[in-house]
Amino acid sequence: MMGFSSLMFIFAILSFFPFLVTSAIVDIIRPSDLMRENTTLVSRDGSFELGFFTPGNSKNRYLGVWYKNIPVRTVVWVANRCKPINDSSGLLTINETGDLVLFGQNKSVVWSTSSLKPAQQPLVQLLDSGNLVLRDEKDENTGDYLWESFDYPTDTNMPGMKIGWDLRRNLTRRLSAWKSFDDPCNGDFTYGIELDQRRHTYPEPMIRKGSAKFYRTGPWNGVSFTGTPDLRPNPLFDYGFVYNDDEVYYIYNLKNKSVISRIVMNQTTSVRQRMVWIEAEKIWKPYNSAPRDQCDNYGICGANSECVITNNPVCQCLKGFKPKIEENWKAMYWSEGCVRSSPLNCRDKEKDGFLTFSGLKVPDTQFTWVNKSVNIRECRAKCLSDCSCTAYTNSDIGEGSGCVLWFGDLFDIRQFSSGGQDLFIRVSASEIEKARAGRKVKKAVLVVAIVVALASGLILVGYYIRRRRHSFFEENTETNVIINRDENQEDDLELPLFSLHTISTATNNFSQNSKLGEGGFGPVYRGMLEGGQEFAVKRLSMWSGQGDNEFKNEVKLIAKLQHRNLVKILGCCIQGEEKLLMYEYMPNKSLDYFIFDERQGRLLDWPKRFQIICGIAKGLLYLHHDSRLRIIHRDLKASNVLLDEEMNPKISDFGLARTFGGDQLEGNTSKVVGTYGYMAPEYAFDGLFSIKSDVFSFGILMLEIICGKRSRGYYYENNGLTLIGYAWTLLKEGKAFKLIDKCLRESDENIEEALRCIHVSLLCVQQSPIDRPNMLSVVLMLSSESTLPQPKPPGYFTETDMWGGDQSASRKFLSSSSKCDMTISVVEPR
Ligand SMILES: *[C@@H]1O[C@H](CO)[C@@H](O)[C@H](O)[C@H]1NC(C)=O
Ligand SMILES: *[C@@H]1O[C@H](CO)[C@@H](O)[C@H](O)[C@H]1NC(C)=O
Ligand SMILES: *[C@@H]1O[C@H](CO)[C@@H](O)[C@H](O)[C@H]1NC(C)=O
Repeated sequence: MMGFSSLMFIFAILSFFPFLVTSAIVDIIRPSDLMRENTTLVSRDGSFELGFFTPGNSKNRYLGVWYKNIPVRTVVWVANRCKPINDSSGLLTINETGDLVLFGQNKSVVWSTSSLKPAQQPLVQLLDSGNLVLRDEKDENTGDYLWESFDYPTDTNMPGMKIGWDLRRNLTRRLSAWKSFDDPCNGDFTYGIELDQRRHTYPEPMIRKGSAKFYRTGPWNGVSFTGTPDLRPNPLFDYGFVYNDDEVYYIYNLKNKSVISRIVMNQTTSVRQRMVWIEAEKIWKPYNSAPRDQCDNYGICGANSECVITNNPVCQCLKGFKPKIEENWKAMYWSEGCVRSSPLNCRDKEKDGFLTFSGLKVPDTQFTWVNKSVNIRECRAKCLSDCSCTAYTNSDIGEGSGCVLWFGDLFDIRQFSSGGQDLFIRVSASEIEKARAGRKVKKAVLVVAIVVALASGLILVGYYIRRRRHSFFEENTETNVIINRDENQEDDLELPLFSLHTISTATNNFSQNSKLGEGGFGPVYRGMLEGGQEFAVKRLSMWSGQGDNEFKNEVKLIAKLQHRNLVKILGCCIQGEEKLLMYEYMPNKSLDYFIFDERQGRLLDWPKRFQIICGIAKGLLYLHHDSRLRIIHRDLKASNVLLDEEMNPKISDFGLARTFGGDQLEGNTSKVVGTYGYMAPEYAFDGLFSIKSDVFSFGILMLEIICGKRSRGYYYENNGLTLIGYAWTLLKEGKAFKLIDKCLRESDENIEEALRCIHVSLLCVQQSPIDRPNMLSVVLMLSSESTLPQPKPPGYFTETDMWGGDQSASRKFLSSSSKCDMTISVVEPR
């Protein structure tokens, strides 16, 4: 502290040189300078000003920093918050130990800095960020500060400020609201990051009212705070959360230097809000605030419950729990919370299990343990091995890594309709059984239905099954095996989530070189993970309007569909606006690459093509009749059939129509998704879709595989007849062999089989959906020698049919779309 003699010295100087510091605009104070009332320090670019001010109706003087260019006095930092100066005696200078000191009435020290170490040539500077720093003269631009006001925030979180911990210095930076409009001293409401270093708890930002918890944002999960799904990439600011052994903090930066924005802990409304200055109206407008609604009130529903804002009443016990006192709960007195419906059985580890809860703001992290290098499997095991562990999840959903365990009762959970995080909550075995039973009943009914259908099909055509095709059927039963295996799958089998960063790195920033093509729902890139695993990734375009969580759940469901003729989904990435889907990489590209090219076409002989047709049929059968979901592909075409090393076909993009095309599975839609040339007429014109519209597309595809010709654009060469119209005519005339690709006409047996396939395909493309067979019948017809019914005329006979007789529409469409095989995303049906 300052000695008496030096004080005298300063005031001696002051009386001799009263004009030492003038009102000239400067941004720096040196030890010889004295800053008094009526003088200010201005940052170099003129955006901030340091000086004395009087808040509201108060008479007191405070030293503070405010925006210089804003007509509404907005103070962002106060030095002597709780020690006002009551006259105009304020004086700011650097003392002989190199600290910045504020003197008040009777020359008493009202405020001073405590620098980290003495400086040789100390100076104080107001930076363009609004940060008031004390540094050594030589340390310009090093960012090496002996003291900075950003380490001691008041009620405002400025861009570039770190809110949280510097663990090396044991310093925590918290916001605290002013007491009132007139008094900048610390009020009740504070905001900071809660962390118990010794116990390795999962850090999380929290607003407290006094010592009571008031609002949690939820912990940072690698992408966002789990309780603020509205924090997402935006045009206003970038944000980040740093969490390592040295530091734990939240930081944001404005994207546009000419925009003025700040976060403030408001003393009157007790919310933490982000404000944006609207120059045109000369006012501050809130951009967002928290807490937002009833469910944001800390612990409103008591222990082991969740708050769902769209429910009435908003509180409900978690699955596996019941109200502690039923009458009170019914009377909406929730604070006693919920207790387990059946107790845990800790001693016998195998007896307890976990239920998955999705879309949550995860519980209060006060009693948690986090480890960023433990994976989710080990995490589960750790939780099971500790009797007091009640829940676990990933600590970083961006990387799909890390482990957090919760101990004891779970507090302050809320559920979002989109966003949020998965949490695995420990329950007793009997609760798992209860949860499973409900689902099993539904599935069992469907499995039985399929088995019965398959069996009756078998009896009908059993006689005709050729010996050499036995293998076909043996493979086919695989479908059912997988369905059954699905029933027993773990509840919490997770779809790996990858970070945008990982995928971006693996694809060279989505470079043109790694682009494989443009699929129905967005471009597809090839990538390689660090371990060398190759994958294809589809960057989904943005017209879904679906929430992140719905999307994730949908993808999880689809990922559970596993069949050798479906492309396997490896994982997905949901980050901000980006939705990406990762598939296994298929080295042999897609079917269209082979069948429509004379040279490449030779690589696929008839047995191979027949195998491909059967493979696609089996894949489609699985999609249509799986017990879990009925998937209508809606965009089956040659370019959506990929080929693996052994030329086995794998249907891709299945389930995307479901994910992206709304929630209806059968019925009428105003959005038609599909590709002209493959679309069933009732779908293209009336928006009616069903498994039979997929059967139609399959019929077209089969014909293309046999003919080596594209269905679309075919009529140019054939007097206006479509490919299927032409095929039907030839079949009637007994000349269907003319259709078969020349390179396939090697043996009589081949031709016989190909003719049968042409016949089946014409059954698939009949005008009326009712006449078309389902995929089960198709599979049976392909593998037997039964007599086939005569097909009725197909959906599109001539070019004119394609447009429902409207030639002008036809021309318009043809001229506007030159690419043959493009998916039409949205077409208004007539
Ligand atoms: C300042 O000094 C005067 C005279 O010495 C004294 O009357 C007054 O109470 C002092 N004020 C403060 C705030 O210390
Ligand atoms: C930054 O904001 C100003 C004012 O709002 C605007 O005129 C300008 O175009 C913005 N600049 C960029 C790069 O977005
Ligand atoms: C807090 O909110 C009130 C009401 O919206 C507003 O008048 C006041 O300026 C805000 N305080 C701060 C520090 O932004």
